[in-house]
Amino acid sequence: MKTSTLAEGLKGSEIIKIAGEVNALKAQGEVVYNQTIGDFDSSIFPIPKELKSAIVDAYNDDQTNYPQANGMQPLRESVSNYLSRRLGLDYASDEILISGGARPLIYAIYQTVLDVNDKVLYPVPSWNNDAYTYLARNRAVVVETKAENKFMPTADDIKPHIQDVNLIALCSPLNPTGTTFTKNGLLEVCELVVKENKRRASLDLKPLYVLYDQIYWQLTYNETKHYNPVELLAEMRDYTIFVDGISKVFAATGVRVGWAFGPKHVIDKMKAMLSHIGAWSPKAEQMATAKYLKNDVAVSTYLTHIKSELSFRLVEFYKGFTSLKAKGYNVNAIEPEAALYLTVQFDLIGKKTPSREELTTIKEVTSYLLNEAKLAIVPFYAFGTSRDSNWFRLSVGTSKKEEISTIFELLENALRKLS
Ligand SMILES: Cc1ncc(COP(=O)(O)O)c(C=O)c1O
Repeated sequence: MKTSTLAEGLKGSEIIKIAGEVNALKAQGEVVYNQTIGDFDSSIFPIPKELKSAIVDAYNDDQTNYPQANGMQPLRESVSNYLSRRLGLDYASDEILISGGARPLIYAIYQTVLDVNDKVLYPVPSWNNDAYTYLARNRAVVVETKAENKFMPTADDIKPHIQDVNLIALCSPLNPTGTTFTKNGLLEVCELVVKENKRRASLDLKPLYVLYDQIYWQLTYNETKHYNPVELLAEMRDYTIFVDGISKVFAATGVRVGWAFGPKHVIDKMKAMLSHIGAWSPKAEQMATAKYLKNDVAVSTYLTHIKSELSFRLVEFYKGFTSLKAKGYNVNAIEPEAALYLTVQFDLIGKKTPSREELTTIKEVTSYLLNEAKLAIVPFYAFGTSRDSNWFRLSVGTSKKEEISTIFELLENALRKLS
């Protein structure tokens, strides 16, 4: 039985396919170190206690009917203040749109600024832009980024396409790499966009917009600093639509509160679009988040805690890979900067397994690591790169600190067996 062409053409998630293999192994009673998911184990990373009790209070207060279409006023005000206090950004409450997490907002941005067959430029590896481009019936202009640029796109990567695209989808800190734009790197991209928009304005053309997904911005470590287009170049305010929310920073992926902010005419249309879909954030969660964001002490305490826990794990994994590399194994890793992800490389194509089978594809490498080292990670082709990229995302949101040394024993053992 056929469904629409759009539905028939939707690609299954590669991450879910790997999850299937992980579950099959677990069903056989194996212990698997599943570092594939971009989520948290809530027994290790519960949401902030003040947020949890505010949610319960809001339900006890019967905050259970339809929320306002653009989000509850107290939450939009609270977000507006939060952005001003913590990022120095000045957005009024009517320039902010609340939704049930970040996903509906990204979907709405595509639907709002793009026409069918318009072109979207996005770098790969990156999260889900291929799906949103497909759903909005747009055409993709894919820029494959390089390890030496920490997999962030550069102005040079974007420049050849600038006159030809209608949206540039950027994300920093980036899922899947856990790396970030440098100040100059982002500024150069913004300068290109502003220059191009001057050209378009003179021809009365629709502007080139930038989707700036900064959902991980508060999870940066050590010297790493988060930058955004509008602070670097004020003219970017007319073209930048930000995506943000509580899912990652407060380990609240199941709470479903996200926000977009940007030019009011775009935000208003996104509101109209999403009100038909009804992708609102639950009212009680909105009221609770409004209260929580105002509690600076609680937020800062939680941030200190989650950042140190995530960064500890990322550094331990990074040190593990660095030490395997020093021992001569064909692995590598990029120093972690942000989010819950470590970028690791397994250069194992052409190696022979103990059963004398040659590893010929990245899929086989992924399966070898899973079966021999019980380590589940996601190859970058799941994030849109070519299928021969030998880089992977390792997520630490479900990792137990005490397991990390065992993971490296198993990994070294599995690597040693290859010839
Ligand atoms: C870069 C990025 N943006 C947005 C999302 C989705 O966030 P939410 O759970 O709030 O929909 C994710 C989730 O993995 C993500 O990695």
